[in-house]
Amino acid sequence: MRLGELQLRRGLLLLAAAAALSAVLGGLARLGLGTDWGDARAVDHGPLFVLGVFGTVIALERAVALGASWGRAAPLLGAMTALALLLGFRELGPPLAGASAVALVAVNAAIVRRQAVAFTWLMLLGSGLLLVGNVAWLVGVPVHLVVCGWMGFFVLTILAERLELSRLAPKPRWATSTLWLTSIALTAAVGLSLAQAPLGPRLLGVCFAALALWEVRFDIARRLLSVDGLPRYAAVGVLAGAGWLGVSGALLAAGGLAAAGPHYDAVLHGVFIGFVLSMVFVHAPIILPAVARLELPFSSTMYVALGVLHVGLSVRLFGDFLPHAALRRVGGLSTAVALLALGLAALWSRRRVSERRPTA
Ligand code: HEM
Repeated sequence: MRLGELQLRRGLLLLAAAAALSAVLGGLARLGLGTDWGDARAVDHGPLFVLGVFGTVIALERAVALGASWGRAAPLLGAMTALALLLGFRELGPPLAGASAVALVAVNAAIVRRQAVAFTWLMLLGSGLLLVGNVAWLVGVPVHLVVCGWMGFFVLTILAERLELSRLAPKPRWATSTLWLTSIALTAAVGLSLAQAPLGPRLLGVCFAALALWEVRFDIARRLLSVDGLPRYAAVGVLAGAGWLGVSGALLAAGGLAAAGPHYDAVLHGVFIGFVLSMVFVHAPIILPAVARLELPFSSTMYVALGVLHVGLSVRLFGDFLPHAALRRVGGLSTAVALLALGLAALWSRRRVSERRPTA
């Protein structure tokens, strides 16, 4: 790999990390734990996290998988979205995010042309939902409806990644058909939600719950619980993430999606923190070396970060439903602590490996 290419990838990841820090501060400000920088980013907390951080990272990973230089447009436009939101050019956010999603769909379509299998098709469908959500955001649909497209994007993309990693696990043929039927129903549910049909979010919830069950039943994770080290750590994170997807699905199916408030908070962060962040925590040791040539060996200290993430989210949801503002704040703050703990665990494991390396 050329040095410039590696530097570009690392630069994009660094920008995504800075955007994540700002998005966390913006989220804390929305919980009443304000700072000057966070208060100014509170309104863009959601788009910054979804599009600027994870939109960029997922697009980078897909562009690396494609290996064509034009594919870099998707993560570059995602990073520009993050910069526009960070620097206060808010009106540039939606068009840049829309352009990034178009590029990501093109990248995924090119990957399908090369390898037309279930997981590549599922990723293409997921990026289609991101595009639909971003176009809706561009034309002024409120964020509390657009989030349905964003959640759908994450759920299908992560399930597709897991399907690829679980391809060696034996599955009955009906398992794949069920996955497809549910994913198509999920796509319809996103369309209905954006059209403001009350059935949309409820159907989306049913699909999330069904996909969570699918994940627990057919993912290779359950079999890897008995294998020490990274496989068990990844399995724990995947199964806990599927559990939160099921919780959010049940909440959506039972109560629909409000425009703001505790129920909205619980549904969204069950998916974004419980499902998405949990998957990011446990896949980081696999993805970082592949994308940025940064070794991140597994260390059991990573369990501490993962534990804080999940316990903290439970506290937050208790705070949402009691309702109890202080519990909500403690729960929100613990996500920030979990991210910090993951960073420290990563530094610790890299240091231990370099200490063990024989010196010349
Ligand atoms: C430190 C962690 C986080 C905190 C403290 C936090 C806090 C919040 C709060 C308080 C809200 C407003 C909810 C309401 O209306 O009652 C919110 C909304 C939202 N959050 Fe988070 N959040 C965090 C992590 C995340 C993550 C990881 C994502 C995405 C990957 C995310 C995406 C969103 C989105 C899309 C919204 C809706 C924005 C809107 O309606 O304008 N959040 N968050």
